[in-house]
Amino acid sequence: DNEDDQRAQKTITSTGSSLPIDKAWIARHFKLYQGFWYSANTLEGVVQVQQQFKAQPSDVLLCTIPKAGTTWLKALCFAIMNRACGFRYSSHPLLTTSPHECVPFLELCADYKNPAIPLIATHIPYTSLPESVFTSGCKIVYMIRNPKDMFVSLWHFMEKMTPKGMVSPSLEVAFELFSNGISPYGPYWDHVLGYWKASLESPEKILFLKFEDMKREPVIWVRKLVQFLDHPFSYDAERNGEVQEIVELCSFENLSNLEVNKNGRHQTGAQLLMENNVYFRQGVVGDWKNHLTTEMAEHLGPNHRAEV
Ligand code: A3P
Repeated sequence: DNEDDQRAQKTITSTGSSLPIDKAWIARHFKLYQGFWYSANTLEGVVQVQQQFKAQPSDVLLCTIPKAGTTWLKALCFAIMNRACGFRYSSHPLLTTSPHECVPFLELCADYKNPAIPLIATHIPYTSLPESVFTSGCKIVYMIRNPKDMFVSLWHFMEKMTPKGMVSPSLEVAFELFSNGISPYGPYWDHVLGYWKASLESPEKILFLKFEDMKREPVIWVRKLVQFLDHPFSYDAERNGEVQEIVELCSFENLSNLEVNKNGRHQTGAQLLMENNVYFRQGVVGDWKNHLTTEMAEHLGPNHRAEV
């Protein structure tokens, strides 16, 4: 504990931060493991998964850093893979079940796999994935989101998740931590770069998707996803507009307005009962402009083409 705490404080002081970041707060909330930061209860799951998880060659891992669009990616892949099960869009499981229940997180749930489909979700960084992922040769889909929107989304999420009686960090403190690499499964850039480099080396095994591209041209990107997942549409399905149907089923507007995602809950791990609505806020590109100063935004890097 003390070592993590000191390392966190050192990272912050070495960058010349003047903000008084509470050492105890960091020590209580984050642990450094293999170069990445985890909340204490998540870390236990990560270590367990590293020791026990046996990936199968037919598995597909959906990997993200939190708040990069995990919920959306889960819904899209679930809908694509489920077509073979003959679900009709008017009575699709996603209309009554949270995407997080359809595709649970590997490191958070003992029953992380829905036996009907080979999809598994995780936030674990590439270099810390269980060995069997590499030896099995299973496929990986990684979704990236620009760090400014991702950070703003994370800050809102942390606020919602702060237990009663505890204070969540102000935007400034959270920003200082985030820009020094301290955030769930961060540093952000290390997370992204790990998967990015791996996708360049093995493009047939790792598909790299951008939240902003998907928002702009969902049909094109869902087609790529379909191809990568090796679940091609028949000529008839294409003609019947099934890609468009999947895009609409999984859109923020549709999912966030469903009763299950407005008022439902799902179990994550042994104890945590999550409100489904915490995963839906705005689902747009560029909300950072309403929260970050110009200096903060510049600090997190240049705008992507898709953001402006
Ligand atoms: P905002 O907080 O910016 O609205 P994750 O799923 O990785 O936890 O990320 C949550 C973010 O994705 C939130 O972003 C949420 O609103 C957005 N989101 C959830 N479902 C989405 C969907 N179907 N399409 C686009 N964005 C979605």
